Amino acid sequence: MTSRTLVAQSQTPDGEALTLTLEQGDHVVRVRGEVLMSSRVSGSEEALARLALTERDMRRPPRVLVGGLGMGFTLRAVLDALDDAAQVEVVELLEDVVRWNEGPLAAYAGQPLTDPRVTVIVRDLLTHLTQATSDYDALILDVDNGPEAFTVAANQRLYTPTGLAVMFEALRPGGVMVLWSAFRAPRFERLLRDAGFIASTTTARARGAVRKGARHTLFKAIRPLPR
Ligand SMILES: C[S@@+](CC[C@H](N)C(=O)[O-])C[C@H]1O[C@@H](n2cnc3c(N)ncnc32)[C@H](O)[C@@H]1O
Repeated sequence: MTSRTLVAQSQTPDGEALTLTLEQGDHVVRVRGEVLMSSRVSGSEEALARLALTERDMRRPPRVLVGGLGMGFTLRAVLDALDDAAQVEVVELLEDVVRWNEGPLAAYAGQPLTDPRVTVIVRDLLTHLTQATSDYDALILDVDNGPEAFTVAANQRLYTPTGLAVMFEALRPGGVMVLWSAFRAPRFERLLRDAGFIASTTTARARGAVRKGARHTLFKAIRPLPR
């Protein structure tokens, strides 16, 4: 068994253990002892941002939401893809994750929380989207290990017709939602279509730069423009 050094610990709103450990030089965040994220690989988390933002007809200034923060890899790729006028909201459920990103995790993604384009909102994603004005250009979502609740049980609402309707309404027409998954989920693509999105699925390697590592699934869902 690899050695683990406990760096910090906390609890999720469900009362489950949330830990930050150091393992062979990498930081790992676990919920209930299961890996939520690791600093070891970030290729597909970065690819998720590019999938949402490249070749899109963005307004100026673009308004983009990243949910959740994790270790900031997706956020860094978002910032690198956007110009100075962009507004990037990061919605993160767990305050401790934000604190860890201001401390031991800050360097992994080049301290993205210090970027003046970023606003951090410590809040449940669905609660935030329910109250948002419907004009996001992009929703870039990676809160569980796929379209199934993992971090907290309440996240299951996100992957239902009701949750998808909230995402649809939060986007401007022509806006895009992307979602990261560790596994294939063809049923979810059908749910996206049923919710009115133009949906597609692609894959990205965990170690993107060298095209190696596990193949992760990326869902892309566009809110159609009115005819
Ligand atoms: C797998 S990590 C994201 C990894 C991230 N893409 C990166 O590049 O490091 C999932 C994140 O979503 C957050 N999260 C989980 N449920 C959430 C919710 N309902 N609302 C907002 N953030 C949530 C977790 O606390 C965690 O920080």
